[in-house]
Amino acid sequence: MKPARALFALVLVVPSILAGAPSAAAGEKKKRCHAGDKAALLAVKAALGDPYLLASWTPDTSCCDDWYDVSCDGATGHLTSLAFHHLPGITGPIPPAIAKLPGLSMLTISWTGVSGPVPSFLGSLTRLTFLDLSFNSLSGSIPASLAALPNLSGINLSRNRLSGPIPTGLFSSSDVSRNALSGDASVLFGAGKALQYADLSRNALSFNLSALELPERQLVGVDWSYNAIYGGIPPQVANMTGLQQFNVSYNRLCGQVPLFAANIAARFDVFSFQHNKCLCGTPLPTPCK
Ligand SMILES: *[C@@H]1O[C@H](CO)[C@@H](O)[C@H](O)[C@H]1NC(C)=O
Ligand SMILES: *[C@@H]1O[C@H](CO)[C@@H](O)[C@H](O)[C@H]1NC(C)=O
Ligand SMILES: *[C@@H]1O[C@H](CO)[C@@H](O)[C@H](O)[C@H]1NC(C)=O
Ligand SMILES: *[C@@H]1O[C@H](CO)[C@@H](O)[C@H](O)[C@H]1NC(C)=O
Ligand SMILES: *[C@@H]1O[C@H](CO)[C@@H](O)[C@H](O)[C@H]1NC(C)=O
Repeated sequence: MKPARALFALVLVVPSILAGAPSAAAGEKKKRCHAGDKAALLAVKAALGDPYLLASWTPDTSCCDDWYDVSCDGATGHLTSLAFHHLPGITGPIPPAIAKLPGLSMLTISWTGVSGPVPSFLGSLTRLTFLDLSFNSLSGSIPASLAALPNLSGINLSRNRLSGPIPTGLFSSSDVSRNALSGDASVLFGAGKALQYADLSRNALSFNLSALELPERQLVGVDWSYNAIYGGIPPQVANMTGLQQFNVSYNRLCGQVPLFAANIAARFDVFSFQHNKCLCGTPLPTPCK
């Protein structure tokens, strides 16, 4: 397992252990299910066309104990995690009722048939730490509202049909309002931002990487391969000592690959940088002129 994957797996596992802990003791009283959350989930089910896969979601049972694909906070009864994974029968847009789950910290909708935009209402889920919308048919651009999520540490939008820029400040909290106004591409990164892992691979994203403000320390993994990213790789990437994965292969980048310190350089090989427009320098075979 690559270190970045290992860390990501940890990010995934720890909250679910915490969420599951209160129900561990056999015979313990059932968790109550927050009424507002239950109503929101029933609206999600209806919006998805009442699929057979969600047959366990019925009004007369406890969403925290008896429903598939959800976990709750034992103390509040609020939903903490919602995961639709490998459900190709689920189609249509992401239901707006998901925004009415205020305790949601982990949302996974992956390998399904959902289409339409990455909805901007996801930006109202302020407790989100992990968002996986990979392997769907989502299109349009990444909404700027995601940049306002204060504790988002992992985002996976891989394998969709997304296009356009990355919102200014997704990785940066500095000067978000200016960036949001200018509509340019850097809302996701920057000092004070929690985002550590961003898999945006295999989309049609197009933005100037030179102009993107990147945080120095906290970024751990980046897979932006197979997009239409242009410009160059900012030299400060070489200073990101925590970076375990940095894959920008199959884009339209130019200029020199940053000079990483030897211990960091060992983490990235030619496959992290290959198939760009005019990138040069180690570890690529093309020397810079
Ligand atoms: C974000 O995380 C911090 C530190 O864990 C926590 O105190 C804060 O309540 C979280 N914010 C939200 C909106 O969940
Ligand atoms: C993101 O999703 C893709 C497609 O499902 C998957 O291959 C990849 O491992 C995911 N990345 C992470 C960091 O989980
Ligand atoms: C990308 O941004 C950099 C820095 O702002 C700028 O110098 C460069 O001309 C831009 N490249 C393109 C292709 O727009
Ligand atoms: C990298 O960090 C060193 C030491 O803090 C600093 O002198 C240098 O300017 C930084 N380089 C970039 C490109 O940010
Ligand atoms: C980067 O992505 C490409 C395309 O998906 C893949 O072939 C390559 O193995 C990746 N490189 C690394 C270092 O993960």
